Amino acid sequence: MAQRSARLSVMKAMPGQREAIAIVDFGSQYSQLIARRVREAHVYCELLPWDVDRVTVDRLAPRGIILSGGPASVYEPGAPELPGWVLTSGLPVLGICYGLQLLAVALGGRVERAPRREYGLASVTIDEPDELLAGMGSPMVCWMSHGDLVAELPDGFRVLAHSDNSPVAAVGDSQRRLYGLQFHPEVVHTERGAAILGNFLTRICGCSGTWTPASFVEESIAAIRTQVGDGRVLCGLSGGVDSSVVAALVGRAVGDRLTCVFVDNGLLRQGEAEQVTATFRRYLGPNLIHVDASQRFLSALSGVTEPEEKRRVIGETFIRVFEEATAASGGNYSFLAQGTLYPDVIESAGAGRSAARIKTHHNVGGLPADLRFSLVEPLRYLFKDEARAVGRELGLPEEIVGRHPFPGPGLAVRVIGEVTKERLATLRAADAIFITELRRAGLYDAVWQALVVLTPLQSVGVMGDGRTYANVAALRAVTSQDGMTADWARLPLEFLGRVSNRIVNEVPGINRVVYDLTSKPPATIEWE
Ligand code: XMP
Repeated sequence: MAQRSARLSVMKAMPGQREAIAIVDFGSQYSQLIARRVREAHVYCELLPWDVDRVTVDRLAPRGIILSGGPASVYEPGAPELPGWVLTSGLPVLGICYGLQLLAVALGGRVERAPRREYGLASVTIDEPDELLAGMGSPMVCWMSHGDLVAELPDGFRVLAHSDNSPVAAVGDSQRRLYGLQFHPEVVHTERGAAILGNFLTRICGCSGTWTPASFVEESIAAIRTQVGDGRVLCGLSGGVDSSVVAALVGRAVGDRLTCVFVDNGLLRQGEAEQVTATFRRYLGPNLIHVDASQRFLSALSGVTEPEEKRRVIGETFIRVFEEATAASGGNYSFLAQGTLYPDVIESAGAGRSAARIKTHHNVGGLPADLRFSLVEPLRYLFKDEARAVGRELGLPEEIVGRHPFPGPGLAVRVIGEVTKERLATLRAADAIFITELRRAGLYDAVWQALVVLTPLQSVGVMGDGRTYANVAALRAVTSQDGMTADWARLPLEFLGRVSNRIVNEVPGINRVVYDLTSKPPATIEWE
């Protein structure tokens, strides 16, 4: 016991330090969801790989630990193990599914294969509410997805809830503040899932939920000032949410020691370049460098039709233009601010596991790795919606913070085939109609992304009394959590009809409009 409390003091959060939760990731498809639910309760958390180094854990100084689910079976050779620091920390622990099974085995319990794999909704009956399930109605609908079960509880544990197929659906040892759930509270299908996680955070870990966009801004400004000292910072502004929020945040921290370079590649949507420059001119004054490089990008793209080649050409041109503009500004920059978000960080940490490369997303609008700058990445631990909330906190206009994701290569990957000035103008006009109508109908925020694709396909039409022979355009709108998977948006047919009508009537060069009904997978969101 003496040894345990000595170790505990190493990790203990300092008074006044930000409340944090460590989520140990054992590879569940729901791990990111756990992080999102915890953040929604205004408690900061990080997703840590199960073999994370101790220094990272100590830096986080968590007040509690959540063990995620995972695809392995605890007794399987090579299965992820419970890191030693989890139990020696003396902190409250909540194991979910595989996390519960690991915890049970580590404390002397036994896990075995369930007679039947349980997948889907289950009715869970509460036997003993304890702190974890306090305030939940019984029975409650919970989402299960497991093949193994805890067959024998470790000493000190009691069953808190059960279902027909899982005699152990929730367990706890309130003395040691160790808990486990066989179901997934992070999944929306679990009726009171957020409330159960909330009980763990507040009643068991003692968190008060003080992590808000305002507290994040305050902390980040202090951290950026410490990192940058009296150095100068450079930032590539694209007009998208992430780089805009970074520019506003870093600008708030270091004032006129921030210079932003906005490269207008001529591949943006209607009015976007003007809006970005007008907004950031207000924040940055002369420290906004606006380079109109549209002609240069168009020339570089001449004759290019293959999607990956388009990305390569655009990426390379961007780097050259950016470097020239930076050199011409004469500034002596030691730092580069970037809008990296948490999903990218998580994804690159697990890069070894990632699947075949479908598109080179991150090489476009990005800079080479061997730059002489130190990186300032204040959004590195935020999800997209959190970055948006920070942007609102900083007073950025809603048209910028609420904007749909937009690919680095812009409209070039939506003009199928060769990119020309004329084809870009056609696409831009059609796209503006789609987006304006979405906003007018109050549907813009209901979709993850909406876009128009200009195909090279020509079809015959009739307008007035004349024959037309013009291009087919496709409307694409998807719903998604993270862009990794997506479903086509069920937009009202009357709405789609109105958009189609307007495009065909108002945009010369398009005489037919179709709606894309493909989900991702098997398709991708963009057509190229
Ligand atoms: P896909 O088309 O792969 O797109 O389903 C997923 C998300 O990524 C965006 N996207 C890109 N973003 N550079 C980017 O910065 C790219 O080359 C690129 N290609 C696709 C896409 O718009 C969607 O949000």
